[in-house]
Order: sequence, then structure tokens, then C-alpha cells
Amino acid sequence: KRSRPNQQQQHHHHHQSGPAPNLSTRKELYERDFPVYKQPVEIGCFSLDSERRFFNDGRQMRYYVEPERNPNFDLRDGYKDRYIKRDGNVKEKLDHILRWILANKSKLCSKGAAASPCALDFDFVTWRGHLTKLLTTPYEMREGWLLAVTRFKGTLYISEVETEAARREQENRTERHEEMMYWGYKFEQYTCADDVHSLPDPGGVVNTNEAFCTVVQTRLADHRLLFSGEVDCRDKDPKAPAPPACYVELKTSAEICTPKQRSNFHRFKLLKWWAQSFLPGVPRVVAGFKDDEGVVVNVDTFPISKISQLIKNEHNCWKPTVCMNFCCDFLSFVKQIAIEDHPSVVYLFSSEPRRDVTFSVHRDSQYSFLPHWFVEEMSS
Ligand code: A3P
Ligand code: MG
Ligand code: MG
Repeated sequence: KRSRPNQQQQHHHHHQSGPAPNLSTRKELYERDFPVYKQPVEIGCFSLDSERRFFNDGRQMRYYVEPERNPNFDLRDGYKDRYIKRDGNVKEKLDHILRWILANKSKLCSKGAAASPCALDFDFVTWRGHLTKLLTTPYEMREGWLLAVTRFKGTLYISEVETEAARREQENRTERHEEMMYWGYKFEQYTCADDVHSLPDPGGVVNTNEAFCTVVQTRLADHRLLFSGEVDCRDKDPKAPAPPACYVELKTSAEICTPKQRSNFHRFKLLKWWAQSFLPGVPRVVAGFKDDEGVVVNVDTFPISKISQLIKNEHNCWKPTVCMNFCCDFLSFVKQIAIEDHPSVVYLFSSEPRRDVTFSVHRDSQYSFLPHWFVEEMSS
């Protein structure tokens, strides 16, 4: 059933003989040479304030302050009375990136034929987080994804759609899980200062509306990419390298006490951490290892460039080349499928663990995600 195109597709691809080609997620198929991945270059940044308002600048940047090795940070502190949680029911889709594109239109747009007043020199525009999901797909045994793609003025915009399973999981979150999601942000508060010369303020409010996002440009094989991702903080040393090399990703993880826990950490956690930071060229992850009571018992730095060696002793482990080749082939697949250039046409790509990636086509549906304000401004 899954490998067959639906009727809409069959109609759309009536010129083809046989079923529409789906994309395999079997990791063996992607074990070839590492594809070209150009050093990501930061072309801008933006900030979202405490009320989730957009600013075309770096006002929400924070500065990393190295903690002691065994800090005993209490991540539960403030959960009840100093926590402002972002409203997860508001689906922002690509809106902030589109706002950034419009704010930087003059430097991004190449004026072409009269019919296309503003064409971007990019094949894809998306969130880094969506690309992270693509990188880990061949190894993902639990969660599927839905990615909506629209071709507009030659550029392919990729925006995630929440799966039914994810929505149910969110609704059925336990109070414990709800609190544990706060812990990661609390760790950021213990290790980040608002200014180069100030210190972290663990007594303040944790507000998860606030974000600093980098916008980077790079190329994966023949795919020219523009994507944005949230950055936790930067090295405060004025002699630190330019962005993104000065950025630091912060993570928390369960304390490792047994060989089995170490193996799981390498096989599952480090895959996600590597994929997320490798994409924008963030060179290191600072990890806080916490006990069951939410106390950070030790802190360790993981250079992204060292992660592939770290995992090599692990039996049956993930490989960076499989991640990058799968992503590259998925983007080629999208280019080949999403042909019609129209802001309200969505090609919806669907992945479920151990299944091929399938797709369906939707016109003027609930899945359309390019807002009128963007379409109109890009057309004038
Ligand atoms: P940890 O991952 O350190 O626990 P990020 O690490 O990407 O900067 O995200 C910051 C924090 O947001 C996470 O910290 C976690 O607390 C929370 N978070 C991010 N993605 C999440 C998800 N999919 N589900 C639950 N919490 C999430
Ligand atoms: Mg973050
Ligand atoms: Mg983080």
C-alpha cells in the first residue's frame, strides 16, 4: 500500500509508466564516499524576543561562561515559578526565515526576467532542524516525519507538518516529561550570560520564547542551501573565530554509569548532537550530565570533529556519510518530484521508520505554508 502512489499522484504523473519512484531509507544504500559539503557561511542572523517578536539582528545572542567540571546545578529550580513556556500550539512554519529573507531582500535577490522580480540563488530554504531529521532518517526506528515542499520562483521551501503520532505524544506528556523539557533550558541559563562581561543569572526567569538564530548558506553536492537554526550561545573571547565557528551548542543528558549507557549515548544521543551541529558548522557541544533528580553532576565538551572517532569502537553504529548521502538523495528526489512552481501547491513527503519515503500532492490545502505577505513581496 505504502509504495503505491495515491490517485492524485497517479493523475499528476499519468505520463509515467509504473508506480512513482519512492526513496529508500535503507542505510546500506548510502554507504558511499562522503558528499561535498561546503563549509557553512553565516549570511545573517535574527532574534526572537520574550514575546516571540522578530528582529533582524543579534540582540538575543548569549555568551558561554564555562562552568566548573562538577557544578551540581539544580535544573528543577524555577520550574514552578520562574518559567515562561513558548506556546507550542502556535505553528510558525517558515515564517521567521521568510521574514528574514524579506528584510534582506536587496542583498539576496538576483533580478532576473520581468516575470520573476526576485529569484533567490538557492535551491532549498528550510530550518536546520528539518535537515537534522533528514540526516538521522536511516537510523530512526521510532519517529516518522512529514515535510511539506513548495516550489516558488525556482526555490524549494521545506516546512515540517506535525505527524498524528507526534501530536498524540504531545497531548499525553506526563508531568515528569513536561518538567524534564524545562531542564535543558535551565542548563542554558546556568551557563550563559546576556553580555560579554556579565555572568549567568540562575535567579532569573527562563523564557523559551527567546531565541537567537543564525542564517547560513552552504552546498551539499549540487544543492545550494539556505537554512536557519537556533544557536545557544557563543564563545565570549573577542579573539574567538568568526561565526559559526565561535558558536557553542548546549545539551543535557543522563549521567553515564554503565557500559550499556555509554553505548546507547554513542549510538543515539551523539548521532542527534552531531547532525544538529555539523549542519551549521557549530564546532562543539558542551554537555551537562544530570542525575535522576535533575542535578548536573558533570560537564564535558564534545568537539564535533572528534565525534566520528569516538563512535568508531561502537558495534553497529551510525556513520556520518550515510546521514549526508541520504539527505543529498532526498533533496535530489524532491527536486525531481516537486516540479510545479506555485506558492499554494504542496508536495507532502512522508517517512515512517523502516519504510520508503512516499509523497502526495495537495493544491490550496491545509498544507500550504507560504504566507501571502511573502508571496506578494517576492513578486513585486
Ligand atoms: P536538552 O536537549 O539539553 O535536554 P537544544 O538542545 O536544541 O538547544 O534545545 C534546548 C532544550 O529544548 C533541550 O535541551 C530540551 O530541554 C528542549 N527540547 C528541544 N527539543 C525538544 C523536543 N523535541 N522534545 C522535548 N524537549 C525538547
Ligand atoms: Mg538551542
Ligand atoms: Mg542546546
